[in-house]
Amino acid sequence: MVEQSLWMRKVAENPGHSAWYIERFRSMARAGDDLGGEARLVDAMAPRHAHILDAGCGPGRVGGALARAGHDVVGVDVDPMLIEAAIQDHPGPRWLVGDLAELDLPARGITAPFDAVVCAGNVMAFLAPSTRREVLGRLRAHLAPHGRAVIGFGAGRDYEFDEFAEDVAAAGLEFELRLSTWDLRPLADDSDFLVALLRPHRSGS
Ligand SMILES: C[S@@+](CC[C@H](N)C(=O)[O-])C[C@H]1O[C@@H](n2cnc3c(N)ncnc32)[C@H](O)[C@@H]1O
Repeated sequence: MVEQSLWMRKVAENPGHSAWYIERFRSMARAGDDLGGEARLVDAMAPRHAHILDAGCGPGRVGGALARAGHDVVGVDVDPMLIEAAIQDHPGPRWLVGDLAELDLPARGITAPFDAVVCAGNVMAFLAPSTRREVLGRLRAHLAPHGRAVIGFGAGRDYEFDEFAEDVAAAGLEFELRLSTWDLRPLADDSDFLVALLRPHRSGS
């Protein structure tokens, strides 16, 4: 067993948290808000009909949009209520309950490596801190050699960008690009958000 994610700790403290989160995104969708920025970036990075993992998919906003763009999407999240909402709201992808720290999709019959992994919406900051490196390693293990992971999270959430960079290297990944937004603005010294494009470490490079 791995340490419980901070998200599930929050759910244990406030059992209404998941329902609140689901309704928040449903109401934004009803209002016509743009909820597709992350998916547009991933779609631009990926080949057509790519195999894409939405890691910490929540109620399926990002993976759902990627599936509608023609990709073959698998979404994994530790919160069963959010996965239930993803199944209802975004039919198409395979939505699975699981902890990213124990991710082993081949053991669940999904053997093809992924062209892209997306981890949006501060998932990294909701992991149990003791599992961050393991989660990055699990994502790395599920990537194809040409594959890339894109991970976005905000500053001020007890996970410094420098510490993240150390964990990235320890997990066998390396930075390809550092951005500050999902619409491709570069990272600056005072950026309060990081969008990291990562690839498997190429030895000798
Ligand atoms: C703020 S939500 C973002 C959801 C989704 N990625 C989005 O952008 O709409 C953070 C998500 O991280 C998930 N999460 C946190 N720790 C996790 C873990 N160890 N394994 C899988 N999912 C996790 C939570 O369950 C939650 O759905």
